[in-house]
Amino acid sequence: MLPLTLPILRLLSDGEFHSGALLAATLGVSRASICHALRDTDLLGVTIYKVRGRGYRLSTPIEWLKPDEIKKHAGRSLLNSTLQIVDVVESTNSLLMQTVSDSAEFPKCVVAEIQTRGRGRRGRAWHGSLGGSLTFSVLWRFNAGVAQLSGLSLVVGVALVRAMTELGLSNLQLKWPNDLLYDFQKLGGVLIELHGDALGPSATVIGVGLNIQLTESVKHQIDQAVIDLNSLNAGFVARNKVLGVALRHIFEVLTEFEKYGFEPFRQEWQTAHAYHDKTVAMRMPDGSETIGLVRGVSNVGAIVLETASGERRFGSGEISMRPMSLAPTLKNRG
Ligand code: BTN
Repeated sequence: MLPLTLPILRLLSDGEFHSGALLAATLGVSRASICHALRDTDLLGVTIYKVRGRGYRLSTPIEWLKPDEIKKHAGRSLLNSTLQIVDVVESTNSLLMQTVSDSAEFPKCVVAEIQTRGRGRRGRAWHGSLGGSLTFSVLWRFNAGVAQLSGLSLVVGVALVRAMTELGLSNLQLKWPNDLLYDFQKLGGVLIELHGDALGPSATVIGVGLNIQLTESVKHQIDQAVIDLNSLNAGFVARNKVLGVALRHIFEVLTEFEKYGFEPFRQEWQTAHAYHDKTVAMRMPDGSETIGLVRGVSNVGAIVLETASGERRFGSGEISMRPMSLAPTLKNRG
């Protein structure tokens, strides 16, 4: 993205037509520079109409991130933390991981208008669009060591379900370890990165991506079934409100998790699990798979499977879970 692109998009964000001449005069550049800066906006997930004699118009107005709006909905939870909004960054997780040190401020939240290299679990890319996604990360410090944080990604999932419920959306589902789904389609994901040692203290970067309104071009880049909040809500969803409410719930569950661990969240997580009592295949980093029936999660967030060779438990890490049929069958290939 060129340096001029975002300033132009901000001028266009009302969704009205703006002439190239006026945009150029406002920004003190040539009309050709305006045209050039808007050439590849498809890659940002933004559609611009250009009409001779009228100028440029955004297909959908953009709701930019506003600290006051976010804080209003986050309430007291953000009072003792830092909120940083950045326009463009490779990845909010990478940004926070680079700043993790003993002296770093905690808690801290970084939210980006757009990520150029968003990361998902297991080395996958995370795709979003300008104004059509929420991409943010929270830096949180635990006195506990990384060994005690195994249920962390699951409790963040619980926080997201609670936030969506408060926003009026029901029937949200979770997929182990930390996907947010609606009707088995992905609405959001969580990427947790840890910094510290087994005994503690430890710093964690909790990255969350939520689909708000994805364009077809962004959906095409994603290799799984996805859904966005706007289509669930059948209308406009205020991004700043979603972020504020989500942060409030995330901060709340982190505080509780720090004191009591995963156990208080276990039942709530299981109730939301899309694949509870379903047959799934667990795939290890070496490619081997174990098939079994999901029986729940343990008190540290490991998924419990009934397999042909007995009960097996899997911690999160680099393990992935894929649904088999909806009919309960057992056949162990592990
Ligand atoms: C997944 O489902 O694979 C996890 C996706 C996590 C995406 C978020 S977006 C904000 C933060 N920054 C990143 O690069 N990734 C996380």
